[in-house]
Amino acid sequence: MLVKDWKEFLVPYEQAVEELKIKFKSIRKQTRSKNTYSPIEFVTGRVKEISSILEKAKKLNIPFNKISEEVEDIAGIRIMCQFVEDIYTMVNLIKQREGKDLTVVYEKDYVKNFKESGYRSYHVIIRYPVQTTLGEVEVLAEIQIRTLAMNFWATIEHSLNYKYKQSIPSHIKERLKKSAELAFLLDQEMSQIKEEIMDAQTMFEIKSNIISDVLDNITNLYSLGKISESTSIQDKFNKLIEYGDIFELKDLLDESNLKVQKARLELYDL
Ligand code: GTP
Ligand code: MG
Repeated sequence: MLVKDWKEFLVPYEQAVEELKIKFKSIRKQTRSKNTYSPIEFVTGRVKEISSILEKAKKLNIPFNKISEEVEDIAGIRIMCQFVEDIYTMVNLIKQREGKDLTVVYEKDYVKNFKESGYRSYHVIIRYPVQTTLGEVEVLAEIQIRTLAMNFWATIEHSLNYKYKQSIPSHIKERLKKSAELAFLLDQEMSQIKEEIMDAQTMFEIKSNIISDVLDNITNLYSLGKISESTSIQDKFNKLIEYGDIFELKDLLDESNLKVQKARLELYDL
């Protein structure tokens, strides 16, 4: 195939990579502008080099006219996430687009079933339609979803393999496997820390809601003319704020709720 023909062949792949990058980046922008946390840290994409396509076709005995059907990663997208859970959030988001702007061909969970090398990532092969001057063309694309730690490992392992032309001595391979394990431990540790922070945040919110409700009740009792009840709740509240835990605060809230209810009933009886 002539260079000119290759360029033409790659046009829809280039378009697919650009469009997919924009679409995934906008997921990040949308969640960030809503001030919620994004499952995507960053996105990259590339079209495979002609030399690599030829190399792969030769290795796998793929004839020229079958390249577009059998080389699945000519268009490649990589999505980097902060946490392992985010990978599965992204997989679900992609699946929800099924039938809208893409079709999932198949997926490989190398996060749970990591490769012999130690490699971890989630791969989704999709079929993606692009509009060209010659009409609609569907291309295959490979989406790799991984954490920052998985990406760190894969990037270094890949460059070492490239440098040593796939002939890394076995003791080094073992060390790479171990470091993949360590990277995964780091991911798990980060997930646990995140969980604890989220628990602490929920606890903080529950506590501040209780406090605000008790304060409302104190004001309400006062305006309903229950001055001594109001003062008594206020005294207990002052003590609990210094020494009490969330359960005691909750008991005080229940107690004050009852008092307000009773005061309101008395009011309606009049
Ligand atoms: P390819 O011929 O590479 O497509 O292999 P495959 O068809 O078996 O697909 P697989 O899903 O195993 O791998 C596809 C891509 O995942 C590769 O092109 C790499 O980008 C990445 N990958 C897979 N295994 C490894 C690995 O051991 N190390 C690194 N660094 N990347 C890997
Ligand atoms: Mg592949």
